[in-house]
Amino acid sequence: MTEAAPRPRLRSRDWFDNVERMDMTALYLERFMNYGVTPEELRSGKPIIGIAQSGSDLSPCNRIHLDLAKRTRDGIRDAGGIPIEFPVHPIFENCRRPTAAIDRNLLYLGLVELLNGYPIDGVVLTTGCDKTTPSQIMAASTVDIPAIVLSGGPMLDGWHEGELVGSGTVIWRSRRLLAAGEIDEEEFLDRACSSAPSAGHCNSMGTASTMNAVAEALGLSLTGCAAIPAPYRERGQYAYRTGQRIVEMVREDLRPSRILTRDAFLNAIATVSVIGGSSNAQPHIVAMARHAGVELEPEVWQDHGYDLPLLVNMQPAGRYLGERFHRAGGVPAAMWELLRAGKLRGEALTCTGRRMADNLDGCESRDREMIRPFADPLMERAGFLVLKGNLFDFAILKTSVISDAFRARYLSRPGHEGVFEARAIVFDGSDDYHHRINDPALAIDDDCILVIRGAGVIGWPGSAEVVNMQPPDAMIREGKMWLPTLGDGRQSGTSDSPSILNASPESAAGGGLAWLRTGDIIRVDLNAGTCDALVEEGEIERRLAEEPAPPIPASATPWEELYREKTGQLAGGAVMDFALKYRGTSRKLPRH
Ligand code: FES
Ligand code: MG
Repeated sequence: MTEAAPRPRLRSRDWFDNVERMDMTALYLERFMNYGVTPEELRSGKPIIGIAQSGSDLSPCNRIHLDLAKRTRDGIRDAGGIPIEFPVHPIFENCRRPTAAIDRNLLYLGLVELLNGYPIDGVVLTTGCDKTTPSQIMAASTVDIPAIVLSGGPMLDGWHEGELVGSGTVIWRSRRLLAAGEIDEEEFLDRACSSAPSAGHCNSMGTASTMNAVAEALGLSLTGCAAIPAPYRERGQYAYRTGQRIVEMVREDLRPSRILTRDAFLNAIATVSVIGGSSNAQPHIVAMARHAGVELEPEVWQDHGYDLPLLVNMQPAGRYLGERFHRAGGVPAAMWELLRAGKLRGEALTCTGRRMADNLDGCESRDREMIRPFADPLMERAGFLVLKGNLFDFAILKTSVISDAFRARYLSRPGHEGVFEARAIVFDGSDDYHHRINDPALAIDDDCILVIRGAGVIGWPGSAEVVNMQPPDAMIREGKMWLPTLGDGRQSGTSDSPSILNASPESAAGGGLAWLRTGDIIRVDLNAGTCDALVEEGEIERRLAEEPAPPIPASATPWEELYREKTGQLAGGAVMDFALKYRGTSRKLPRH
């Protein structure tokens, strides 16, 4: 437990107790707010707890929070706090154009203003759909008031004709079946819809489940919170306890800056590896770390991630879905394995007020088919591999989804294990890919690598999940489901494509993909961590001088323009660098 210290003065007092300035704020609030808070309460010194409400019709994956917030309010009240619920900018991964990624920094900006500009002493961050987790944690770090994460939880498991079908993963797999002519569009839709049987976020280990696991691994949510399926009874119980706990955190002055240390982020990276987490964890973890004042050098993905095994048997890297993961013990059981293997920083302080190691006490897996022992994993060395070369300074490869067939074909040539060369087929964005992928003139075969550019932070804008490109239909009909892919965009966390992703700098920011041409040979060496186009230096210079830069679309909204101007590359977490200097705004009260 944290030591008993004098209770901190609440920042909300400045709004209500400022007698010498004849402050009118309290009067206004008492007269106008009219939502069940009495004047006596506002003046009583109770902490005011924000509930950052991320659920809405435009954020359906988080809509469960509209109900859960009632339990959270009860918990806050019962612990002696005053709940104030307010909306955050909605984000819906599947529907937002040009991509939901562009809204992560927008939600961040909006929430910083709300937390800083209103009399809020602590906040419950309601998370679920992919970017709704990192954006809110980034904002809580900037303001640095006590904050706790309440996950909405994944949907129930999806079933189709006796087979488990996971969010997203079923789409990528069904697309290949459709291309191969094995199913029709009706069947495709049936399978896709079967994967979404209830309220909640995606039920596979896509970006949503990954980022909620990351929040828990960082020590920002109650032990076991991330994996409870949205409709389960425990979800409401955690909502209540989360509400209680944030009031205590305010009294203990337990702020993100005390929890989000380098150790916490290394724990998150290790956890992502053993759960087979989404490749989107890379930019989001880097972004949260930078907003917390922690710089993660590229090597951490190798040293604290790649070398760890895959333990959680969940789609897309494994077989099962969220319900079984929860029943097996969820995130704490996976972290318990890490702790026992000496791969976790157990001293890290968490939102419970206790060390991570204390939280994990007794959390051993209850289902060894679902959560494997460290010594008997599903796969060795299953984290992200970091690559660099003449095409980019940084890119990652999610190794846990690389199939045995792919390894056998590309990575197991005797004497050249882990090395392959392939002929580049270059696409300028996803429209170009869809338009030309089946063009026989490209003569795409097993010796090719599909490359997409113009898909990064500036090029798209926002960085799109488009790198998981599938081979031409003709190859799929021959049973060739995979080609290696490479791009300056991202890929869906639910995809099982063997892709080199998040290449930074992107083509639109002067990265090497801009001069790459169809027909160039690309050499990937996983042992050395390199990826290079075998093109002479002089030829590269000639192309840069003589050939036009790849096209990118104009900005379509004011935010797109501002986003492009202010946002950095995926390697650096795609944060707005200028925002980093505002960390700890709550230490200074806003002027009145
Ligand atoms: Fe929102 Fe997957 S689309 S969680
Ligand atoms: Mg996604």
